[in-house]
This record gives sequence, structure tokens and C-alpha cells, in this order.
Amino acid sequence: MVCLGNICRSPTAQGVLSSLAAKRAFEREILVDSAGTGSWHLGEAPDKRSTKAAARRGYEIGHLVSRQITIIDFEKFDYVLAMDQANLDDLKKLCPDKYKDKLELLLDFGSSKESSVPDPYYGGASGFQRVLGLIEDACDGFLRHLITKHNLS
Ligand code: 4NP
Repeated sequence: MVCLGNICRSPTAQGVLSSLAAKRAFEREILVDSAGTGSWHLGEAPDKRSTKAAARRGYEIGHLVSRQITIIDFEKFDYVLAMDQANLDDLKKLCPDKYKDKLELLLDFGSSKESSVPDPYYGGASGFQRVLGLIEDACDGFLRHLITKHNLS
């Protein structure tokens, strides 16, 4: 899961997908991580507004630590999911050609007609609730995709 700062959207998506996978007992099959394309917040915990919005829906993300995406991530992970189109464009520039088909938008797996999770950083608390709703919906769709595509049972 990749966003700009790795303190709002992508740690939320990491927490939601890990939790949904664990509820279906797929925590050994599905390894979830997150990173930012930027480096401003390296080593920081998620934004308190994200932690609070996540906790209200039962997801614990306060222990996560921000990091920046590395070339190794493109090799290590089967899917590299961007939170918005700008993140996807940045990832396309960094990603070696042979792994480019791993790059997708998280919301392409959701039921919303939105394609990008809006950056909530400079907005109010309602933006963080909206982010969480979009991410929950898309992670649910992504998990169903993983179960079908990779014959998980
Ligand atoms: P994120 O949100 O990409 O969802 O983690 C942001 C966090 C920090 C900044 C921008 C977006 N920033 O400009 O510092």
C-alpha cells in the first residue's frame, strides 16, 4: 500500500487489509506492508487523526512506522497498490519495467466510482472518515480478488 507520506492513507490501508485477511485466517498467505513515495515523515507513527478514525472502526495502526518505498519492494511484493493517481505516476517512474504490471490503484478493486483516495492531510476529521470508508470497501474487494485469483481457501 503506497501513498505520499505513509502516515495517513497507506498505513490505514495496511491496517485494514491485514485485519480483513486475519479475520479470514489468511495472515500467513497475505503479507501486507505500506510505504510512502516521499521521505518527509520517515520513522514517524501514523497521523493521530488516521489512528483515531481507524480505531473507531476496530483497526489498530498506532504501532506502524513510516518508511519510503525502495526498489526491493517492487521485487518482493506481488501487488504494489497506489492510493492516488499521483502516487501511481511516481511509482511508474521508480519501478523497473519487469515489475510494472504489479502497479495498480487500490480503488480499482473497490465498488466506488472514485479512483483515488483523497489526501486527507490538510483537511478535517471528516476527510479521515471518508478515507477509511473508501479503503475498507476497496480492501474488501481486493481480498476477494486475492482469494479467487490465488485459490486461497
Ligand atoms: P498520506 O498523507 O500521503 O496519506 O500519508 C500525507 C501526509 C503528509 C503530507 C502529505 C500527505 N505532507 O505533505 O507532509
